[in-house]
Amino acid sequence: METIKQQIEVLRKKIADWNYRYYVLDQPAVSDFEFDMELKRLEKLEAEYPEYYDASSPTQRVGSDISKNFVQVEHLYPMLSLTNTYSEGEISEFYNRTKKALNEDFEIVCELKYDGTSISLIYENGVLVRAITRGDGARGDDVTVNVRTIRTIPLRLQGSNYPPLFEIRGEILLPWQVFNQLNEERAEAEETRFANPRNAAAGTLKTLNPQIVAQRKLDSYLYSVLGNGLPYDGHYENLEAARSWGFKISDAMRKCHSLDEVFDFIRYWDIERKNLPVATDGIVLKVNSAKQQLNLGWTAKSPRWAIAYKFQAESVETRLLSVDFQVGRTGTVTPVANLEPVLLSGSVVKRASLHNEDIIRQLDLHLGDWCRVEKGGEIIPKITGVNKEARFMIGDTVRFIRNCPACGTPLVREPDEAAYYCPNRSGCEPQIKGMIEHFISRRAMNINAGEGTVDTFYKAGLIRNVADLYDIRFRDICCLERWGEKSAANFMESIQLSKQVPYERVLYSLGIRFVGETVAKRLANACPDIDDLMQADLSRLTSIEEIGDRIADSILAYFADDNNRKLIERLRSNNLQFALSEDILAGRTEVLKGKTFVISGVFTQHSRDEYKELIERNGGKNSASVSSKTDFILAGENMGPAKWEKAQKLGVKIISEQEFLTMI
Ligand code: IVH
Repeated sequence: METIKQQIEVLRKKIADWNYRYYVLDQPAVSDFEFDMELKRLEKLEAEYPEYYDASSPTQRVGSDISKNFVQVEHLYPMLSLTNTYSEGEISEFYNRTKKALNEDFEIVCELKYDGTSISLIYENGVLVRAITRGDGARGDDVTVNVRTIRTIPLRLQGSNYPPLFEIRGEILLPWQVFNQLNEERAEAEETRFANPRNAAAGTLKTLNPQIVAQRKLDSYLYSVLGNGLPYDGHYENLEAARSWGFKISDAMRKCHSLDEVFDFIRYWDIERKNLPVATDGIVLKVNSAKQQLNLGWTAKSPRWAIAYKFQAESVETRLLSVDFQVGRTGTVTPVANLEPVLLSGSVVKRASLHNEDIIRQLDLHLGDWCRVEKGGEIIPKITGVNKEARFMIGDTVRFIRNCPACGTPLVREPDEAAYYCPNRSGCEPQIKGMIEHFISRRAMNINAGEGTVDTFYKAGLIRNVADLYDIRFRDICCLERWGEKSAANFMESIQLSKQVPYERVLYSLGIRFVGETVAKRLANACPDIDDLMQADLSRLTSIEEIGDRIADSILAYFADDNNRKLIERLRSNNLQFALSEDILAGRTEVLKGKTFVISGVFTQHSRDEYKELIERNGGKNSASVSSKTDFILAGENMGPAKWEKAQKLGVKIISEQEFLTMI
């Protein structure tokens, strides 16, 4: 009879193997159904017998919901970068230089250069113990909790010939398909789109909630093994060994014995890479033998035994037909070029971003110009130059407009910003619609309305601002085009439900410039009702954590506008939440009044953000750095040594989680 412990171990091993076949080999061994059933069985056993908890169990892939700020960790070996070149000539030079320096036979391994974010993984006795971002090359962020959710990274290794302690480095990637889908979702939720999969992967890896990371379906390719006691001298052979331990190693890897072979590889992959599911931006050449690598050595920045050949960003020339100026929700005006349609990396491009006035000026852009359009990993192509020699008859100079294209109001440009915006917040159609769309969006008031609703209501004259939503009656909408009794009833119900949305989300929903979700939360905590917030002056606002002059000015300007005050009065009379709830208020005290805290390290009972909130709720203040004004350091595990030293010097009291909780 198997013991419970054995049952759990057998299940873990089986599921880890299925994961490997599915995610790394791309060869599923069982149906999704069977997989889910076994995973559930394991989850159930682990819940019943918590004494067998293991951070490497496949059930831990979903990520815990405890969020922690990241701790900085020193790299075992510095994470250097590569010398880059776009020139085939420099590749030949690298090859010949290497040949001369080594003066013996050598092999060059060619690999793809993956365009994601780099990661260093540490394995101890076959178990993933730490994952660190590149950081500044010497120290990076410990993102182990997030990396554990990536299915192609083994938590526990297969086989046996791995060293007891080693490091493996590689790239974390967000596949194109996931990237596109993610951006669609973000657009829907009115969040800014990621510019390219690299930013999206890096951003995801630094997300504080590992559950979100788990949903994002990151992928990985590992490209170098480091440590003592590796099985082979050859980099290529070690990667093959790592493949057998369960890592995802690219098949696009070749050992070359001549320059011709290197160029074959480069030319083949310059075309073929377009069919890959992830972004690549070049080829990396590495001397295979570790002994020879050591011989060639490193400069301060990069190894002498490797070089990256970068592919030219694809570009093409086409004519500029016209320039549109679009007004966004916050009034920012963006210039967009309309181009003669042209094929670029597999899709037809008709529009390109022109960013701002300064860029238009630098390009010296005229209508009818032949422009160079590039698609460097970004989704929206950009114009990078003008072919002045191709000018036959010169068209009008493209000038940034001075008045809003939607409402005619003179545009404003803040001294330190590149963008122009239309200040007519409450009278400019795209801004009004944008603001209402933001107000009803899921993360804001979460009012259930299908696509096109704001447009329909606006056209029907039902809404000119967010407060008008609460005056809508069932009879106003049940007979609109594409609306019926059911959809009208759903909408009315969702309007009622929105009256329970908490104060901080109502603040976020108002769409005050620079007031995102985090700032709204901070404001709500510091000013427990809207009257308090409306009366707050510059110095009070800037004393709130993370709120500087720019945000404070925007808040002051918002409340100085009579239209906005009236709007808030109307929303208030419709019973929206404009104060912290009784529950939260009941938990507030003044016990920490006048005390300033610095938080450092990793905590077990609450997350760092929760501690910050607890400090504020109990009348205390947070500060990022230790100074003579600091009263306490709330220290978790792995408190930064610099902070510790400074605290000692200044005689600041260091307290533990438990001591803090007792205090409040
Ligand atoms: S080797 C000492 N191999 O490119 C340098 N890097 O500038 C070791 N990268 O940030 C790096 N694919 O994240 C290497 N096959 C590959 C790579 C690769 C992508 C990234 C890496 C690093 C950058 C180098």
